[in-house]
Amino acid sequence: MNNILRKEVLTPEIKLFELECPLIAAKILPGQFVVIRSYEKGERIPLTVADVNKEHGSIIIIFQEVGKSTAYLGTLKKGDEIIDVIGPLGKPSEIKIFGTVVCIGGGVGIAPVYPIIKALKKKGNRIISILGARNKELLILENEIKKFSDELYITTDDGSYGKKGFVSDELKRLINEGRKIDRVVAIGPSIMMKVVAEVTGPYEIKTIVSLNPIMIDGTGMCGGCRVEIGGETKFACVDGPEFDGHLVNFDLLMKRQAIYLKEEEESFAKFKKEGV
Ligand SMILES: Cc1cc2nc3c(=O)[nH]c(=O)nc-3n(C[C@H](O)[C@H](O)[C@H](O)COP(=O)(O)OP(=O)(O)OC[C@H]3O[C@@H](n4cnc5c(N)ncnc54)[C@H](O)[C@@H]3O)c2cc1C
Ligand code: FES
Repeated sequence: MNNILRKEVLTPEIKLFELECPLIAAKILPGQFVVIRSYEKGERIPLTVADVNKEHGSIIIIFQEVGKSTAYLGTLKKGDEIIDVIGPLGKPSEIKIFGTVVCIGGGVGIAPVYPIIKALKKKGNRIISILGARNKELLILENEIKKFSDELYITTDDGSYGKKGFVSDELKRLINEGRKIDRVVAIGPSIMMKVVAEVTGPYEIKTIVSLNPIMIDGTGMCGGCRVEIGGETKFACVDGPEFDGHLVNFDLLMKRQAIYLKEEEESFAKFKKEGV
């Protein structure tokens, strides 16, 4: 169980695993995630399921190596086993006919937006995708997303591919051109989702974001993932991870995400020196 059937290195920092998880593959829906523990004393980390292969009974996860747990995960090879993969967790995305949906993915946030694009397109929506990355080398899933998009725009921070700038600049351009937009789905760094929600707010365009607070159990027990939505406390793992972007207290989210920065840096430095 949980064998790595395929490993792809998408960029030096971003890896794709196809995992043999037949029970999860049979049930997972777009927007849901799994919690993974890769070795006996390893921490539990949440990762979105980017795709599913029901025939193989497998799921695809795509992760960026940002610290100890993801860097260790990246050292595993085809044929290795991951000791725990728990899911499906979280509420699935709302997949209905909305009209024209602008789907925005930033950095590794492109992976979780991909299954939503696919499902919304199959349902009959018109999809305008905007993908952004720091530079050309870090851009993932362009060809896969193109297949399910009526229009696709790409931005890079340094201008090495697509337009120089941010995904929110492309969204502003579409709005300024008077394009009819019925819904926006944005997944990426918290600051990106905050800016996107600020752009759409004055136009009252419904904007869905997927939040990534620190999660531990992923089942509503620990309270680690609490976020403030419209002044109320919610648990992102069971009430989300998707929420109305206009109601999210992003400043509090970003503050809470940075609580363990010192410990995370120390743990990553120790891992680089000594391994797990
Ligand atoms: C619902 C959800 C889905 C996610 N999906 C993906 C995905 O598909 N691909 C991907 O690359 N990343 C995803 N993430 C983020 C991923 O879980 C973190 O990058 C990972 O936990 C970092 O662990 P680390 O030990 O490598 O890094 P650390 O050095 O421990 O931390 C680096 C940063 O990652 C975040 N982080 C650390 N631990 C956790 C944790 N237990 N839960 C959540 N965030 C944490 C913090 O912001 C932290 O500052 C998702 C997060 C959530 C909440
Ligand atoms: S991760 Fe523990 S309550 Fe959500």
